[in-house]
Amino acid sequence: MADGTKDALSSNQMWGGRFASGPDAIMEEINASIGFDKKLYAQDIRGSIAHATMLAEKGIISSEDKDKIITGLNTIMSEIEQGSFQFSRKLEDIHMNIEAKLADIIGAAAGRLHTARSRNDQVALDFRLWVKEELAKTEKMLSDLIAAFLDRAEEHADTVMPGFTHLQTAQPVTFGHHCMAYVEMFGRDRARVRHAIDHLDESPIGAAALAGTPYPIDRHMTAKALGFREPTRNSIDTVSDRDFALEFLSVAAICAMHLSRLAEEIVIWSTPQFGFVRLSDAFSTGSSIMPQKKNPDAAELVRAKTGRINGSLVALLTVMKGLPLAYSKDMQEDKEQVFDAAENLELAIAAMTGMMRDMTIRTDRMRQAAGAGYSTATDLADWLVREVNLPFREAHHVTGRAVALAESKSCDLSELSLAELQEINPAITDGVFNVLSVDASVASRTSFGGTAPAEVRKQIAWWRARN
Ligand code: ARG
Repeated sequence: MADGTKDALSSNQMWGGRFASGPDAIMEEINASIGFDKKLYAQDIRGSIAHATMLAEKGIISSEDKDKIITGLNTIMSEIEQGSFQFSRKLEDIHMNIEAKLADIIGAAAGRLHTARSRNDQVALDFRLWVKEELAKTEKMLSDLIAAFLDRAEEHADTVMPGFTHLQTAQPVTFGHHCMAYVEMFGRDRARVRHAIDHLDESPIGAAALAGTPYPIDRHMTAKALGFREPTRNSIDTVSDRDFALEFLSVAAICAMHLSRLAEEIVIWSTPQFGFVRLSDAFSTGSSIMPQKKNPDAAELVRAKTGRINGSLVALLTVMKGLPLAYSKDMQEDKEQVFDAAENLELAIAAMTGMMRDMTIRTDRMRQAAGAGYSTATDLADWLVREVNLPFREAHHVTGRAVALAESKSCDLSELSLAELQEINPAITDGVFNVLSVDASVASRTSFGGTAPAEVRKQIAWWRARN
């Protein structure tokens, strides 16, 4: 131990100078974060190496001490990586576990590492570095997911399916177009991830406890060494800010919501009643009692993950909402929320990417459903506007009567005879039958962003150039 006095042994060796005894067992339990913040070991060591290097460069510690500190920290890094490092709850958190071990290895020089810093800026640094790396990982995973959708969209640019509003058949669309809707959603998620990275790209180290430090430190040097754009500009804000964690959780919550909508569609599409897709064996499970079943468990679990990710966001917002500036120990509760959300978002994105790539698209079922439910009624109304010059409202009414007639005869709009249609409006000609098919309907929607296969292919090319 760095300081072998009796008092320091019974109280905390890092801050126990003024304490006559150690903490109550419950105090130790509620106070310790090592159980979860040991995840930050690599960031903590990187931060300490950058800090010690800067301290030596500025003549605040000797270069011999700096060398000892760095050698010791590297030893600790490999011990943790090999699993031989003994974490101690008495030492509260990752910062003090590492510093105490450094003292064991190199002796008194270890005590110089904490010059001009505090655990408050240290934890802000470690956690920011961790979140930054996680965001970079998320960005990459979203790109893989988008790539899966682009491939399916390309393959199914001409595959017709019913488009829904209110989950009622609305108008025919293509499966490619539907896939591209998700590309837009995950593309926005990825843009939010990039924005969050840009936002957090400021180095907290050197803010010290809250007020800065009298030592002649160089925060630009540490910021650069740690890969940050620049140092933060207000030391009070620096140690009391967890916006970077909240932004990660907000981005994660919105992305999880998107994944959940997709999961819900997969659950619906894979029912025998819909039968639009068949999930691969790799992403479904069977029932122990009903041999015929194939359950979309992966999709259901992705849908459920949204609950805990939203929960993490609300939990941290609630932790932060009443805190006076600057640091309060409440903020220690930030990490588990972010770690849990990160782990589960990664799982959800990976599962979705696999499911999308693997599932069989049942084009026959989609085509059949696309034509049902009078899905081309709008095409009839549009034809009446274009060819008969009816005002749209009137065309809507005429079409409604045609739908009612078809319904009473249990047939499709395209199965009504010309004579029957002319009874509703004598100006109708047999040219109308050209627009009543689902393929014609889809092909006609060439407006920018519309469902026409040619337009969908243009949007796929636009995204390919950006993925
Ligand atoms: N374990 C603490 C946390 O996660 C580190 C910072 C402690 N700072 C302090 N002044 N007690 O927030």
